[in-house]
Amino acid sequence: MSVFKIEHVYYSYDSGKTPVLKDINYEFEKGKTYSIVGKSGSGKTTLLSLMSGLDKPKDGKILYNSTDISKIDEDVYRSRHVGVVFQSFNLLPHMTALENVILSIDVSGIKVKNKKEHALDMLNKVGLDEEKANRRVLMLSGGEQQRVAIARALSYNPDVVLADEPTGNLDSTTEKQIMDIFKDLAKQDNKCVIIVTHSPNVSNNVDNVYNLENN
Ligand SMILES: Nc1ncnc2c1ncn2[C@@H]1O[C@H](COP(=O)(O)OP(=O)(O)O)[C@@H](O)[C@H]1O
Ligand SMILES: [Mg+2]
Repeated sequence: MSVFKIEHVYYSYDSGKTPVLKDINYEFEKGKTYSIVGKSGSGKTTLLSLMSGLDKPKDGKILYNSTDISKIDEDVYRSRHVGVVFQSFNLLPHMTALENVILSIDVSGIKVKNKKEHALDMLNKVGLDEEKANRRVLMLSGGEQQRVAIARALSYNPDVVLADEPTGNLDSTTEKQIMDIFKDLAKQDNKCVIIVTHSPNVSNNVDNVYNLENN
C-alpha cells in the first residue's frame, strides 16, 4: 500500500493565473527512495510544501495512509508523520547539534525515556559522534549540518522524509555520503524518502524518479 497518494492535485499562487501544478498524480511507498526532478520553476518546492502540509492544494487531494492530509491536525501531521530537510539546513546555529534534535523531540511531544540518549542515538545514526553532537552547529561543516538536520527530522520517527535540494550546498563526496544515509533510511528503516533535486548524482541513485515536466 502506498504511504502517499497524490490525486489530481492543482495549485496556483494567484487564482486565475496558469496553475503551477496541474493534475498531479503519483504514489509513494515505504522502503523506497524517490526523486522529484524538473527545471527551475516547475513546481518542485511547491509540491513538497503541499506534501509537508505547509499549504493546501487548490483542487485534488493528498492521501497519507489513505487519509486526506487536510483532515489531519496540521501540527500533529507536521511534527509526527513527515520529517522535512532543507537545502540550507534551517538549524538553530548557536545551539549544539544535540540541542537542535532535543528541541524537535520537545516540539513533537513524543514520549521517550531519555531525550538526550534518544537524540544522541539519532545523531550517531547519521554518523555524528558525541563530540560533534555537543558542538554548536556553527562549528560544523555543511555536510555535518545536513546530518544534524536529518537526525532532527528522524527524531520523532516519521514514516516519510521530505527533502528539498538537500545536497544543493554540498560537494559531490559529501553528497554521496548524504545519499547513502537516505538510502539506508529506506532500505533498513522502511521509510519513504522523497528528494527534490537538480543533481543527477541524486536522481541516478534512487528507486524512482518523478519528472514534473513530463506531467
Ligand atoms: N510564494 C510564491 N508566490 C507566487 N509565486 C510563487 C511563490 N513561490 C513560487 N512561486 C512560483 O511558482 C512556480 C514554481 O515555483 P517552485 O515550486 O519554487 O519551483 P521549483 O522548486 O521547481 O524551482 C515558479 O514560477 C515560482 O515563481
Ligand atoms: Mg525549489
